[in-house]
Amino acid sequence: MRVTPHGVAVIGYGRMGRRRAKAVRSSKDFQLIHIVDPDDERRLAGGRDFECNSSTSFSSALADPDLGVVFVCTPNVTHADIVRMFLEAGKHVFCEKPLCVTWEEARAIAALAKKVDCRVQIGANARYFPNVQKAKDVINSNRIGELTFGRAWIGHDGWVLKTTPWSSNYDIAGGGVLADNGHHLIDLVRWFLGDIRSVQGVRSTLVHNLDARLEDNFLGILTTERSNPVFIQASWTDWNGYLYLEVYGTQGYILVDSRGDAALTLVSTKTGQIERFDFSGMPKDSWEKETHAFLDGITRSDRFGPDATDAMAILRVTQALYESSSTGKVVNLNRLD
Ligand SMILES: NC(=O)c1ccc[n+]([C@@H]2O[C@H](COP(=O)([O-])OP(=O)(O)OC[C@H]3O[C@@H](n4cnc5c(N)ncnc54)[C@H](O)[C@@H]3O)[C@@H](O)[C@H]2O)c1
Repeated sequence: MRVTPHGVAVIGYGRMGRRRAKAVRSSKDFQLIHIVDPDDERRLAGGRDFECNSSTSFSSALADPDLGVVFVCTPNVTHADIVRMFLEAGKHVFCEKPLCVTWEEARAIAALAKKVDCRVQIGANARYFPNVQKAKDVINSNRIGELTFGRAWIGHDGWVLKTTPWSSNYDIAGGGVLADNGHHLIDLVRWFLGDIRSVQGVRSTLVHNLDARLEDNFLGILTTERSNPVFIQASWTDWNGYLYLEVYGTQGYILVDSRGDAALTLVSTKTGQIERFDFSGMPKDSWEKETHAFLDGITRSDRFGPDATDAMAILRVTQALYESSSTGKVVNLNRLD
């Protein structure tokens, strides 16, 4: 991998942009040097908060030889063009999920990243929840045996529809709750249980007043390449979110409970042993951990979080679920190759 200058740009200084900027500030090796946002008030506030350049256009960041890394924190549909532009300029890119709106776009971005020898990582901060990490360690240790099936849901009351109104604009968001929260869930299912082979989906709008192309609930059944069935639900009408997962194996099961303020992992074996890990009092710092892991990974040239190829796989599952929900049929993912 190329030698990287340690200047960082945050593109889009909204909710996520502010989080990433703060996390970059606490990095040992990298400095925030540019903020770009078309909203003048926001970018000026960012420039003041972080004592860095701020602009409504990309040109000064693109031309800056000190810039090595970019965090793309803009609304979904804008991601693909911005990511491509900075990759072509030779910068490493961290992009908030989703990397883009279609899996074909993700495939093109993966090929471009390989060609220019730059890293692309997508936002997947749930991987940095301590109770999720504990579950991953237990699965890796083989303590619950060979994996058999999973049940998982993610959700909240749909507050994003108010705080980021573009979330309810199909042409900007690219989908409803499945494309939004469901992205994290599909990422975790793949991380725990492997690639997905086929899907069935049911989409519905139960509470919020949405464009007919969006949904506030999505239920899916995924079958992995190893034939493990996994039941998932993504919801914007869940009054006590946020994340709940169970993974079963031949020797026991793991439960991850992140409802409300909880952060628990329960490991139970067939012999009746139950171990409970409670991380509820720990700081909620998954954003910082994720940002630092990405930046540290660049310095050490090792791979860490999900990349453009993972984004492609997640988007394939998402698109196949939407297709299944409209045809009522099982969609086999190999057909999309
Ligand atoms: N847990 C997570 O991983 C998580 C959580 C929330 C949001 N997100 C993702 O983060 C991204 C941003 O969400 P948000 O909540 O911060 O939105 P936001 O609306 O708060 O912020 C977006 C910012 O981007 C700016 N912007 C719009 N078009 C731009 C462009 N072409 N170039 C530069 N800036 C532009 C806007 O002016 C705004 O300041 C979305 O893709 C969303 O899906 C991820």
